[in-house]
Amino acid sequence: MNFQAKMLRDDALKNKNIVVTGGGSGLGKAMTKYFLELGAQVAITSRNLEKLQTTVKELEEETGGKCFAIQCDVRLYEEVKQMRDEAIKQMGSVDILLNNAAGNFISPTERLSANAFDTIIDIVLKGSKNCTLAFGKHWIDQKETNKTVLNIVTTYAWTGSAYVVPSATAKAGVLAMTRSLAVEWAKYGIRFNAVAPGPFPTKGAWDRLLPGNLKEKFDLAQKVPLKRVGEHQELANLAAYLVSDFSAYVNGEVITIDGGEWLKGAGQFNLLEDIPSEMWDMLEEMIRKKKNK
Ligand code: COA
Repeated sequence: MNFQAKMLRDDALKNKNIVVTGGGSGLGKAMTKYFLELGAQVAITSRNLEKLQTTVKELEEETGGKCFAIQCDVRLYEEVKQMRDEAIKQMGSVDILLNNAAGNFISPTERLSANAFDTIIDIVLKGSKNCTLAFGKHWIDQKETNKTVLNIVTTYAWTGSAYVVPSATAKAGVLAMTRSLAVEWAKYGIRFNAVAPGPFPTKGAWDRLLPGNLKEKFDLAQKVPLKRVGEHQELANLAAYLVSDFSAYVNGEVITIDGGEWLKGAGQFNLLEDIPSEMWDMLEEMIRKKKNK
C-alpha cells in the first residue's frame, strides 16, 4: 500500500451519476477515471467536444465504465441548463456535480485588460455558480435529495496570490459559495465541499502557470515541506471520498491537499529550514550567551 494506491472499495460510487466540468483533460480527467473505476456513470463537459470524445473513448476502454461527452461553455447559463438536461437524459439523473472547469494564466495585473480579468472570473466563479444554480434548482424543484457538489478551489483562495489575481478573486468567491450553500441548502439534502489542491502538475495548467523554462527555474516541489508534488491518484482518492456517501456528514468543508505548501509560505520563521545543522550549534551558542548578559 502506498499513497498512489486506490483508496475506496470497488463499488463505492455504484449507482452514482456524476457531472465533471472540465473533465476532458488534466485533473478533471484523472478524477473522472477513478469515479468510473468505482462504478459511477460520468458525464464530462467542456467547450471542446472533440477532446471530450477522445477522453470518453480512452476512459471507457481503460475502465469498462460508462462515460458521456457533453459540450458546454460554463460561462453561459443557457448552455449549462442544456448540459444539465442532456446529462439527465443520458444518465437518468445526476447525483453529484464536480465544479472543476477553470481558467488561469500568470500575469502582472496591470497588464490585464478588463476582458482578460472577466474571462477568468466568468469561467471560474460564474461557471461554478451557473452549474450550481442549474443543478441545485432542479434538485430542489424535483425534491431529489442526497445530492452533493464538490468545488475545486486552491490554497490561495484564502491567502490571495500575486500574479494570478483574477483566479484568486474568483476562487475566493467559489469558496464563499461552498460554505454559504452548505448551510442554506442542507435542508434540501444537498452537501457542498471543496478541495484546495497544491501543486499537481498537469500539462494545461503548467503551460499557463510555468511557461518556458520557468518550470526548471521554479521547482515547485522545493516549496513543499514534503519535497514533492502531488500525484493525481491522491487527489482522485480525496475527491471520490468527498462525493461518496462515506462523507455524508462532511458538509461545508474545504480540504487542503498540498503537502503543507501554503503553510510553509505563512509561518514567519519557516525560512530557517535553509540553515544547515552545523550552523545551529553556532546559533544556539550565540543565543545562550545573550541570556546570560
Ligand atoms: N496575458 C494577458 N492577457 C491574456 C493572456 C495572457 N497570457 N491570455 C489571454 N489574455 C486575454 C486576451 O487578450 C483577452 O482579452 P482582450 O479581449 O482584452 O484582448 C482575454 O484574455 C480572453 O482571452 P481569449 O483567448 O479570448 O479567451 P478564451 O475564452 O478563448 O480563453 C483562457 C480563456 C485565456 C483562460 C485560456 O487560457 C483557456 O481557455 N484556459 C482554459 C484552461 C485553463 O486555463 N486551464 C488552467 C487551469 S489552472
